[in-house]
Amino acid sequence: ILALTGAARAGAYPARPITIIVPFAAGGPSDAMARVLAERMRATLGQAVVVENVTGAGGSIGVGRAVHSAPDGYTISFGHLGTHVANGAVYKLPYDLVADLEPVVLLPSNPMIVVSKNAVPATSLKELLAWLKSRPAPATAGTAGAGSGSHIAGVYFESASGIKLQYVPYRGTGPALNDLIAGQIDIIVDQTSNSINQVRAGTIRAYAISDDKRLASAPEIPTADEAGLKGFQMTLWSGMWVPKGTPREIVKKLNAAVVEALGDAAVKKQMENLGLEMPPQDQLTPEALGARQKAEIAKWWPIIKAADIKVD
Ligand code: MLT
Repeated sequence: ILALTGAARAGAYPARPITIIVPFAAGGPSDAMARVLAERMRATLGQAVVVENVTGAGGSIGVGRAVHSAPDGYTISFGHLGTHVANGAVYKLPYDLVADLEPVVLLPSNPMIVVSKNAVPATSLKELLAWLKSRPAPATAGTAGAGSGSHIAGVYFESASGIKLQYVPYRGTGPALNDLIAGQIDIIVDQTSNSINQVRAGTIRAYAISDDKRLASAPEIPTADEAGLKGFQMTLWSGMWVPKGTPREIVKKLNAAVVEALGDAAVKKQMENLGLEMPPQDQLTPEALGARQKAEIAKWWPIIKAADIKVD
């Protein structure tokens, strides 16, 4: 009977609007990706798909809201390597990132990019590192909160370069980027998709990306290796999850709607222009996201725990 009820529910699904909880501020990279996908999903699913920004504590508050909502397919948890991997090593979460969530689909990934305010007197990564080292007090680095992508990338950048940073937490890298442009903070180790248009416009400076190859859409920016910082490699991938217990048919429907959106030529072009890379076709199943999340937990938790991150 339970199975039948589940199938019946899935058959009528979706019968009302779906909410995607983005755990960071509007205007940032997670919000931007979620909104592009929501629009396409609306067309496929025949229902409104709305984005709700539930921010705070490195994204863990928004994820918690999604985890504790009904497992009926009407609440989706949008997140990434920070929220659905790193946060588990940074906070004592009131939920389990693996046991309490059902993976839906892996989303595009992008390297991190080291960017500074224009007033920083450096034109290369080597000069930036020299400037950071020469300062009497640590430079300020904007993040989306402890455990977010920009924070973990910053910690990794510190350990690769031997530099100390003073983190300034925001509710997302959208507002952090505004402050970088205004010169209120010194640097961000940001998702490329968030910063690249400001780099192109000349309102901030870029020094290197955390990848082993240059971006096709911005080939003038060197890799960290090329710029003299060995081993600074990190790819920030995003994904969607639903609460554990969501009927299988609903997970499949959502997965198919997102896969269709990702296959759209205009979406692809828009994302690639921002430095985002589409997941390979064979990585688009819920199982592939589950496997990726577990592998990344095994890789990152020891690194993050060793960094001994303090959370207020
Ligand atoms: C955001 O949308 O603000 C980001 O995904 C933040 C981050 O994790 O750095």
